[in-house]
Amino acid sequence: MRQVVTTRNGSVEVLKVQEAPDPSPGKGEVVVQVKAAGLNFADILARQGLYPDGPKKPCVMGYEVAGVIEAVGEGVPPGMVGKSVVGMTRFKGQSEKVLITVNQLFEKPESLSFEQAAAIPVNYLTAYALLVVMGGLRKGESVLIHNAGGGVGLAAIDIARKVGAISYGTASPGKHEFLRERGLDHAIDYRNQDWLPVLKQLTNDSGVELVIDPIGGSHWKKSYAALRTTGRLGMFGVSTASANGLKGKFKLLKAAAQMPRFHPLGLLNKNRGVFGLNLGHMWHEPEKVAEWVQAIMAGVTEGWIRPFVDKAFSFAQAGDAHSYLEERKNIGKVVLVP
Ligand SMILES: NC(=O)c1ccc[n+]([C@@H]2O[C@H](COP(=O)([O-])OP(=O)(O)OC[C@H]3O[C@@H](n4cnc5c(N)ncnc54)[C@H](OP(=O)(O)O)[C@@H]3O)[C@@H](O)[C@H]2O)c1
Repeated sequence: MRQVVTTRNGSVEVLKVQEAPDPSPGKGEVVVQVKAAGLNFADILARQGLYPDGPKKPCVMGYEVAGVIEAVGEGVPPGMVGKSVVGMTRFKGQSEKVLITVNQLFEKPESLSFEQAAAIPVNYLTAYALLVVMGGLRKGESVLIHNAGGGVGLAAIDIARKVGAISYGTASPGKHEFLRERGLDHAIDYRNQDWLPVLKQLTNDSGVELVIDPIGGSHWKKSYAALRTTGRLGMFGVSTASANGLKGKFKLLKAAAQMPRFHPLGLLNKNRGVFGLNLGHMWHEPEKVAEWVQAIMAGVTEGWIRPFVDKAFSFAQAGDAHSYLEERKNIGKVVLVP
């Protein structure tokens, strides 16, 4: 079988399609023949050598796939062979075939293509955890979604609409029209102007009840300043560090040095909360994640969860797919197809 291998740290040239032996399923596992694999910003950071959670290189990235069960291991009903599924993979998803334990699998909704289904796990679980589980977003509250045009961003818009919250989103200006069509209430250009005064003006100086921020570093300070009383800040990424080579390392160090330090008394007196999320550190809590998946799948059936795939790239074009995200061209999800 073929896999997209990140051979070492570097620019997109380090991505190679290589052959590997077909996997065979162990106890409680299945082999999924992959039809589409999600590409995430974490894969870019891993390639750049800026992602501490990534596997040792050479490695195959990929947290999520949609495909068909080809073989089952001991303890798994043989009737599952041939079923279309979506699965979460602790790496190696960007392969023609991947091993998945049964508790990381769920049925692919018939209404979705394989590509759309592969766009669900990381983006929607992250957005659901940020907005609903940890952010406690309520009807009538307001939420600021940074990178609203990205994969997690579009998922967050779907969830904010369902909750009945007022949504503000930062994105490159070329994405604003699409974002409004998707239901974002207020799109803010953060590339050509300072977004904070714009947000303050739009909210009559009061700020918002929830901010979700994947940019990191000093940006978390600024997002904290955008909170209204009882506001919560959800921190979940450091895309500010994205760059190849030494520049990336330098930017990561800078981001670490500029991170805010939150004092308990400051939080108490301002009636604010801060929290962090790392979905990649949830593998030991499958029951919690399964409950979130159930809510998301119900949303697919009801029609308010709408995974949007911008573009599908072949494995051989994995470098172009990485560049597409790095150059901020994507709106929503990018997937790789074998
Ligand atoms: N902690 C977790 O569990 C978790 C899970 C999933 C994702 N994340 C994080 O959430 C963020 C979004 O992830 P995603 O996979 O949905 O990707 P994505 O948002 O689709 O990523 C690409 C978009 O990010 C924006 N962006 C902001 N800063 C950028 C930079 N320095 N370089 C390139 N693009 C930049 C660009 O859009 P605009 O210019 O239009 O804003 C770009 O189109 C990433 O930081 C990721 O690491 C964290």
